[in-house]
Amino acid sequence: MTSASEGDVLSFARDIRPLFRVKDRDSMRRAFDLFDYSDVADHADAIVGALRSGKMPCDGAWPTSNVEKFQRWIDMGKPA
Ligand code: HEM
Repeated sequence: MTSASEGDVLSFARDIRPLFRVKDRDSMRRAFDLFDYSDVADHADAIVGALRSGKMPCDGAWPTSNVEKFQRWIDMGKPA
């Protein structure tokens, strides 16, 4: 059984960008801007690796469902 939203196309603006807190953006800004589509798309592999490992965010790992959402967004070609 799949939920209604599982097959939907994800967008950065609607689905991915809201996963990041202001604190995340501020903490990571010297490396990349988590509120910026191009920066997140360019660093997506490093970002998903850090999320999967549980090392990021430094104050508590994301739930698996959010990590999988980010991975699905990569797999569908990182729609803006
Ligand atoms: C969803 C939120 C976050 C993501 C996706 C993320 C992602 C990453 C990634 C990919 C790196 C490696 C950067 C590189 O290769 O140059 C990194 C490093 C780092 N991040 Fe984050 N980060 C997040 C939130 C945070 C927060 C909230 C903090 C601190 C409170 C933080 C502190 C650091 C620090 C100190 C490093 C450098 C040291 C290290 O690599 O462990 N990050 N992060």
